Amino acid sequence: MKKLLFLLTLSIALGTQAQQHVMTVDVSKSTARINPAMYGIFFEDINFGADGGLYAELIKNRSFEFPQPLVGWVPFGEVTVTDENPCFDRNPHYIRMVNDGRLLRTGLDNEGYRGIGLKKGEEYRFSVYTRTPETKSMKLSVEFVNSNGQNLLKKEIEINGADWQKQTIVLKSPFTDTHARLRIVLLTKGTVDMDHISLFPVNTWKKRENGLRADLAQALYDLNPGVFRFPGGCIIEGNSLATRYQWKNSVGPIENRPLNENRWNYTFQHKAFPDYFQSYGLGFYEYFLLSEDLGAEPLPVVSCGLSCQYESNEVVPLNELDPYVKDALDLIEFANGPVTSEWGKVRAEMGHPEPFGLKMIAVGNEQWGEVYPERLEVFMKAIRAQYPDIQIIGSSGPSASGNHFDYLWPEMKRLDVDLVDEHYYMAPEWFFANAARYDNYDRKGPKVFAGEYASHDHPTGKANNFLAALSEAAFMTGLERNADVVRLATYAPLFAHVDAWQWNPDLIWFDNLRLMRTPNYYVQQMYGMNAGTDVLSLQMNGKSVAGQDSLYATAALDAPTGEVILKLVNASAHPTTIQIDLNGLKKQQLVSGTCTYLQNCDWKAVNTLEYETIVPRVRPVEVDVRSLNLELQPRSFGVYRLTLSGKK
Ligand code: AHR
Repeated sequence: MKKLLFLLTLSIALGTQAQQHVMTVDVSKSTARINPAMYGIFFEDINFGADGGLYAELIKNRSFEFPQPLVGWVPFGEVTVTDENPCFDRNPHYIRMVNDGRLLRTGLDNEGYRGIGLKKGEEYRFSVYTRTPETKSMKLSVEFVNSNGQNLLKKEIEINGADWQKQTIVLKSPFTDTHARLRIVLLTKGTVDMDHISLFPVNTWKKRENGLRADLAQALYDLNPGVFRFPGGCIIEGNSLATRYQWKNSVGPIENRPLNENRWNYTFQHKAFPDYFQSYGLGFYEYFLLSEDLGAEPLPVVSCGLSCQYESNEVVPLNELDPYVKDALDLIEFANGPVTSEWGKVRAEMGHPEPFGLKMIAVGNEQWGEVYPERLEVFMKAIRAQYPDIQIIGSSGPSASGNHFDYLWPEMKRLDVDLVDEHYYMAPEWFFANAARYDNYDRKGPKVFAGEYASHDHPTGKANNFLAALSEAAFMTGLERNADVVRLATYAPLFAHVDAWQWNPDLIWFDNLRLMRTPNYYVQQMYGMNAGTDVLSLQMNGKSVAGQDSLYATAALDAPTGEVILKLVNASAHPTTIQIDLNGLKKQQLVSGTCTYLQNCDWKAVNTLEYETIVPRVRPVEVDVRSLNLELQPRSFGVYRLTLSGKK
């Protein structure tokens, strides 16, 4: 008795009173099928996500098409920009270098995207289109310069002939530097023209020449995403209609894809990004290819004839909408059409005769007001008439509630869209409090696509910290428990360059050589790797588990393996014990289990480029025949995979 009193007093003094909860999972009762594509990714060229990020091109302004055509370049000697008799009609600018034998040197440096990342021993493919009016052979030196200004590698190439020709060489870097530069020097007296100056690592994702940064693409692959939404985001709308994302400009030979302004190139949060443009080197063909590589359903977003409503707010009159609708129809043909069709042929010529198997398309991003459903309706009629099997996604505006949201949801029902895209960038408290958001959603209306969401911890400057990640994990239990309503979910944004970002938090941060997976990344990965196929009925103490005593949970069956998957969040500062009873087992019994978990007592904990503190760890779980007792660590998210024996 004395001992018991002592233990009781001790636990109260330590403030660690363990609470006993009973959670019941009925393994014989599937309440919803989980969409195999449920957990996915959303990609937008924001924060140098594409050019300067996932797209492995290391040269900024390779075609000299920026409004100030030498942005990114430092010329020396006699270097001019011209467009007379160009190499590429849609990117006509090129440079002319003249070495008159008097100036010390003629040439130019490229600064890359806040530097060029080079790794010692790695190979890089340099290419350039050149011509010369000279009758002799001209020589260029291609050089890697480190951040101290030392030329540590030089390789010469020869230029001959008055017609444009592509030259390619491979250089091995003798040094590692995140802020290196490329230098080209004209060594011979005379004139040389150059265009489309490019440098890629040889080791890109899948070793493709117009490829992706291998480490960043691998990080996407490791999420096991079910769906891939692209290319935005606000960039599909553009700052103006003229600069909206036009997918047709992003396919075909890369040299002739016209440059477009990036919607995120303006002054934002006191940071100016006048050098942020879209080369379209990572274009729709590459996006579809990446979806295929990742095993994710492609989900393109197209402009609905409204430019960004936060910016110029331009509206295409209804009687001028046809070219926009045609772009959407042609896109479906580009993805799925036979090689004999106009756009299927373009896809085949780019190397992919087989269709990409597109199943859905989103029309518009974060639109609002009557102008949106009016335009969406026109798109829907045309798409339904020609492609009745393609699912159409409409928008509920930029926020999780409010006037736009309240107006648009009934409109989306009236139009009978297949899914409604909801966006929420909210505080962690909102995410915890909204774990039951979908419990009472209309089961008969359009389904939900949680297309952009992230927990914004304002007091920490919206850091990708453990609080934000855990609140997302808690919220996502509610997405999964309501998998009959919520069919798709994608965190946003995906990438951010540490030296050039406009928006945070973001799932993956990177510099020119390294990457950092945030705690939020690992939450997404734990869901993506453990989606399961069927939601199982689950109750705690006879009630819903969303938020009782800071606990959040969902249970699923993984039909192919027969495993039961529990996802449990303990958001309290105390450990909590929980007994889990499995009902409906018949002749089966529990034999073993593992727990993959994230845990940290410090809400402010973050990962860094140097070290990832918050990573999933795995431990075995002891099980009884049809129950298990768990002690949930304080502030933790655990995914439990439980193996059953015997036949059902
Ligand atoms: O993800 C960043 C931006 O947030 C997207 O472009 C837009 O859709 C939302 O406002």
